[in-house]
Amino acid sequence: MDSSKDLIKERLSIADVVGTYVKLERAGKNLKARCPFHKEKTPSFNVSPERGTYYCFGCGEKGDIFTFIEKMEGVDFRGALELLATRAGIQLVPYRGSNENKDEKERLLDLHTDAVKFYEDEVKKREDIRLYLEGRGLTSATIEKWHLGYAPADWRLLTSHLRAKKYTDEELATSGLSIRSESKAGDLYDRFRGRIMFPFNDISGRPIAFSGRFFEKMESSKVEEPAKYVNSPETPLYHKSRVLYGLDQARASMRKNDFAIVVEGQMDLLMMHQIGFANTVAASGTALTEEHLRLIGHSTKRLVLALDSDPAGLKSAHRSAALAFSQGYDLRIAAFPDGKDPADVGKEDPEKLRAAIRSACSAVEFFLNHIRATSKNEREMRKRAGEEILPLVSVMQSRIDQAHFIQVIARDLGLPEDDIRAEMAKIKVSPVQRDATSTAQPAPKVVQKPISRLQQASQLILLIDKENVAEEKLKKLIGEDRLMEVKEGLESAREKLLFQIENEEYGKGGLEDLFAEIEKETVKEEIEDTRRIQRLAKGEGDEKAMHDAQIRLQQLIRKQHGI
Ligand code: CTP
Ligand code: MN
Repeated sequence: MDSSKDLIKERLSIADVVGTYVKLERAGKNLKARCPFHKEKTPSFNVSPERGTYYCFGCGEKGDIFTFIEKMEGVDFRGALELLATRAGIQLVPYRGSNENKDEKERLLDLHTDAVKFYEDEVKKREDIRLYLEGRGLTSATIEKWHLGYAPADWRLLTSHLRAKKYTDEELATSGLSIRSESKAGDLYDRFRGRIMFPFNDISGRPIAFSGRFFEKMESSKVEEPAKYVNSPETPLYHKSRVLYGLDQARASMRKNDFAIVVEGQMDLLMMHQIGFANTVAASGTALTEEHLRLIGHSTKRLVLALDSDPAGLKSAHRSAALAFSQGYDLRIAAFPDGKDPADVGKEDPEKLRAAIRSACSAVEFFLNHIRATSKNEREMRKRAGEEILPLVSVMQSRIDQAHFIQVIARDLGLPEDDIRAEMAKIKVSPVQRDATSTAQPAPKVVQKPISRLQQASQLILLIDKENVAEEKLKKLIGEDRLMEVKEGLESAREKLLFQIENEEYGKGGLEDLFAEIEKETVKEEIEDTRRIQRLAKGEGDEKAMHDAQIRLQQLIRKQHGI
């Protein structure tokens, strides 16, 4: 693995990799950009082509091309390796050794790939499944491209197949594809039975989960109405709130067209791709989560939500709109009436579906129209607009967008803009509620321990001072304990300090300037300490201690001013 890592690093420059996501500008021998990991107006994201590393002075993110891709694409190291290997045109050496030696995740990935194959082979045996899918408007090219499969209505076909391929019962249960029997110890049975199977992939296109649509009941089944969809549970590979169906195939087109279409279901997604909208992803029945937005946001910040306009769909669209606006996304909505979803419309007439997407209007206008259509009178409409639409505008990040939509709303309601503004000012902007059902975690924030200038200057000294001659002097100045602390923090601060030196914020005058700074900082800290002691002494009425502190303070202040 190490050799492919090195080979990739040789072939891909960090400027190329990072440059695909953000606009880099030259700054001395380094490059700068606005940080893709946090919001900012002025660029504090530094890239060193020489070292192949990056560091952001704003949020503290740092690393190399691999950590960059892990972060940006939400993949693990192996995922980043595969993405970059493809880009570098390198064939990765598969893990060596027998199956047993691979780590858990690799084994689970293989298991899913084997399951996809198994389900696909079953479809080939079943004319009725193909007929059904074609009846839904899907072409055989679509069925193949998305590896649709079939899980026969039987208890143990997949489980036996995978056991024969030497997967352990433990692995089968962990994958979620088999379920442990509660009544008979050691017994496993298939989760998916009598279902059309949609494989869900990770960002590099490897299958990690399934969604199965009901097709036929088990002969023995007494259940009246089985669930329309059964999905893989959360597993080490699959986290529902972090996966968008189709993202691996949609990304390139999302970036190229600078917008993404979000639909609710798998069928909708397949239809969208089939009629030429390759920039479509599906949230698979959940409202958009922050993590979903983050995944899309690597490619584009413009979204079109395409949904059937039942009350549940509208409610989830409203929530998605609030979240999207608060994160600086542009959101348009295309809705289909009469309980029709994109898949139905596309099957009837692809051109109709294309037109609906092209004419999607902004979420604000969409909800205005909806409220107008469903309010009894003008007064009710205005009230509802205040309650349902102003909160959306109030969370928008851009003042220009806000001003624009205030104007749109004022015109639509026939009210003065000032009144809309005044009403909006009353809304307390609360953090947008997360999807209550999701387990989405907010994007991890790097907590930077605040570090004093003294510590920082000391670290810089240690970094510049290659011969280690300054260490003794430093020990005298700041004490041995503190020196230990400084040294411990050095490794994690290294990247930042190197960029600081290069950006010539420090280090111009070399060691001497830094020592001078440390002396200054040491005196400053001592003054603060002495003031604290003086206050304590005063509180306790200790005249002697107060006097001593005063003398010390005078000495220190003279020292501070170089007298
Ligand atoms: N879904 C789910 N579990 C359910 C129902 C729905 O996970 N019990 C998810 C599926 O990802 C589904 C999506 O929600 O694709 C949308 O649901 P729905 O509109 O009911 O299904 P369709 O995708 O329209 O499926 P079909 O057209 O075949 O009825
Ligand atoms: Mn449908």
